[in-house]
Amino acid sequence: MSEKLQIVTIDGPSGVGKSTVSRGLADRLGFVYLDTGAMYRAVAYGCREGGVDVEDEQAVGRFLQDLHIELLPPKRPDDDVRVFLGGQEISGFIRTPEMGMLASKVSALPVVRQKLTVMQQKMGRAGKIVAEGRDTGTVVFPQAAWKFYLDADPEERARRRINQLTLKGERVDEQEILAQIIKRDRDDSERTIAPLKAADDAVRIDASRLSAAEVIERMFSFIKGS
Ligand code: DC
Repeated sequence: MSEKLQIVTIDGPSGVGKSTVSRGLADRLGFVYLDTGAMYRAVAYGCREGGVDVEDEQAVGRFLQDLHIELLPPKRPDDDVRVFLGGQEISGFIRTPEMGMLASKVSALPVVRQKLTVMQQKMGRAGKIVAEGRDTGTVVFPQAAWKFYLDADPEERARRRINQLTLKGERVDEQEILAQIIKRDRDDSERTIAPLKAADDAVRIDASRLSAAEVIERMFSFIKGS
């Protein structure tokens, strides 16, 4: 049996607050935060910008040969990580609901998952990271020392996503956001490889009625007490 790595994994559906919680927990522990969803979003963005047909796995495979993704810490503590594709900053373009849907689509392609999983494992080689995504506890870091699965009602997740987008000054169609969340959950959970699911050894937390600070506190206490 290989030893457990000093890695925290946080998986769960979209809009559950994983990013805020992962960032906060990483700060608290002095670990690096790894946003794996940002990498799927970067691939989706690159395909769209490069006119790559995401239905054509071979074309996507060719696109991946020259893939160069870099994640850097945000300039301000509460911002998302900064994402660079081929040296160009794309952070401002990838956090839209449309890019989330396209990321979900490309993430079902085996060629994409293989490539990004290997990249993520390299990033986590030294340990001391908080990795967030859909399959970080099941596939990317099965040897992680601490695994969490965060969940919340779809309606609550839609409400939070609407708040986030409204705060950014975007106009939102509330019914559409809820429908997108439900579709993305279904697609992410039903795909054949690395579907969204809790690892058997993950601690499940229902965040429907908890603030991000409360979730971080629970995770932190669990880790310190283990
Ligand atoms: O966490 P997010 O919303 O930024 O992720 C965007 C999409 O990327 C998500 O719908 C599915 C995919 N994804 C994945 O398949 N595996 C991960 N570890 C992270 C994200």
